[in-house]
Amino acid sequence: MPTPNLCEKPMAEAPSALPEDNRMSRYSGVAMALHWLVALLILGNLVMIWFIDHYPDAWVRPVIDLHKSIGITVLGLVLLRILWRIGHRPPALPASYPRAEKLAAHAAHALLYAVILLLPLTGWIHDSAWKDAPTHPMSLYGLVPWPRIALIMHQPAAAKEALHSLFFAFHKYLAYLLYALFVLHVGAALKHQFLDKEPELQRMLPG
Ligand code: HEM
Ligand code: HEM
Repeated sequence: MPTPNLCEKPMAEAPSALPEDNRMSRYSGVAMALHWLVALLILGNLVMIWFIDHYPDAWVRPVIDLHKSIGITVLGLVLLRILWRIGHRPPALPASYPRAEKLAAHAAHALLYAVILLLPLTGWIHDSAWKDAPTHPMSLYGLVPWPRIALIMHQPAAAKEALHSLFFAFHKYLAYLLYALFVLHVGAALKHQFLDKEPELQRMLPG
């Protein structure tokens, strides 16, 4: 008998309830590619900015510019990923997972999506309120001019200063939330893989 295809399905083709069982089920190639690309870009961007105080002075501005470019790339990829996710039902979680763990996984994934969308957005707003923005135009990787948010840029100076600080705080605390979710997310994946002996990582890996 042919092995049933339990990969992520376009919504139109997906049955209303996918079978929940312990056979191998995987995310689609597009979902995997977007997951790993976004994860790599976010982690790279974080590591790069953590050491900002230790770079030679001449590097600081180019590093911040690169941070913004990678962040905007992440914003585009996350929007694409959310659109893809809306149209494609992910593979059902194994039936052996307790109900509470399934609920926790869904909640953590929804929060992760919210945080990885809001992080670049708050960075972009913070940067659009920067007083030196008009004399330091944004450009993606030094190649493509990228706009700042006009609504923010055209605020009076005092309002911009307040927005600059406020959105930096949002940006910073969202990063803290991401660290916590990341530990939970990776911890849960490793627990399922190595303690529960479920093929958890394979759900997000090709092959
Ligand atoms: C910043 C880094 C990461 C982010 C933002 C992230 C985000 C996400 C999100 C939002 C999902 C849910 C996908 C969906 O249902 O549409 C997911 C699934 C998954 N992630 Fe990550 N992830 C990251 C890093 C990692 C790492 C390092 C691992 C490896 C341990 C990992 C392993 C997985 C696995 C196995 C799934 C599938 C969960 C399932 O449905 O069983 N992720 N990730
Ligand atoms: C992947 C998305 C992003 C992540 C994970 C991220 C994360 C961070 C973190 C952790 C910091 C350091 C906060 C602190 O000092 O405690 C930071 C700083 C900063 N981020 Fe982002 N960011 C992202 C996207 C963006 C975007 C899209 C922009 C602007 C377009 C941006 C602009 C900035 C700026 C201007 C700073 C301050 C740098 C400095 O002066 O030291 N970020 N970001």
